[in-house]
Amino acid sequence: MPEVFFESKRLLLRSWSEADIGPLCEMNADPKVMEFFPKTLDKSEVLALYNMIISEQAERGFSLYAVEKKSDGKFIGLTGFHMANFNSDFTPAIEIAWRLKSEEWGRGYATEAARACLQYGWETLHFREVVSFTTEANKRSENVMKKLGMTMQGEFMHPKLDPSHALAKHVLYKINLSGIRAF
Ligand SMILES: CC(C)(COP(=O)(O)OP(=O)(O)OC[C@H]1O[C@@H](n2cnc3c(N)ncnc32)[C@H](O)[C@@H]1OP(=O)(O)O)[C@@H](O)C(=O)NCCC(=O)NCCS
Repeated sequence: MPEVFFESKRLLLRSWSEADIGPLCEMNADPKVMEFFPKTLDKSEVLALYNMIISEQAERGFSLYAVEKKSDGKFIGLTGFHMANFNSDFTPAIEIAWRLKSEEWGRGYATEAARACLQYGWETLHFREVVSFTTEANKRSENVMKKLGMTMQGEFMHPKLDPSHALAKHVLYKINLSGIRAF
């Protein structure tokens, strides 16, 4: 049975089970969801992502969590934490990230899940500061960052992408979680 780490009004944020692999593959094969990533992911890439998440949870005690709707028990995507440790002037840093099935967009679930994550990050994981970043064209994701009260720090070229790549330029946001009591 998956472990529920924390919840919000409409959502459970829980550990992963093999039953999530099918829906996780569907989400990562959707070109709409992957518009601002270099490519959609095939099954072997999704399994690598799944295994990375399970290992990060075991090793660090946090990870990207599976997001489930309380109303019908449906898996709708992922939201949670990841240790960003690529080479840059703001890393290593705890990153908050989100990815939802496209049919679930526009209902406030990403912001609700991320808010609950930040609260859990502050109260249980004792994080002080969390960053988030996305390619500059990904306004839906940047909108979530703004609604969470994160503040823009600037732009950077993602070191894992060639500087000429259309997705290389990223915006960087940060939040100091001592302000999180407002949630
Ligand atoms: C980024 C992503 C998670 C955002 O999802 P989302 O559903 O658009 O995000 P939100 O939770 O902010 O909800 C959006 C809208 O739902 C609407 N909404 C409907 N019901 C709502 C409710 N009960 N409460 C709050 N908002 C609600 C809001 O109007 C909000 O839009 P607004 O902020 O412009 O007013 C989603 O687009 C996605 O998965 N994208 C692909 C993956 C990706 O790019 N991830 C980020 C990579 S860095």
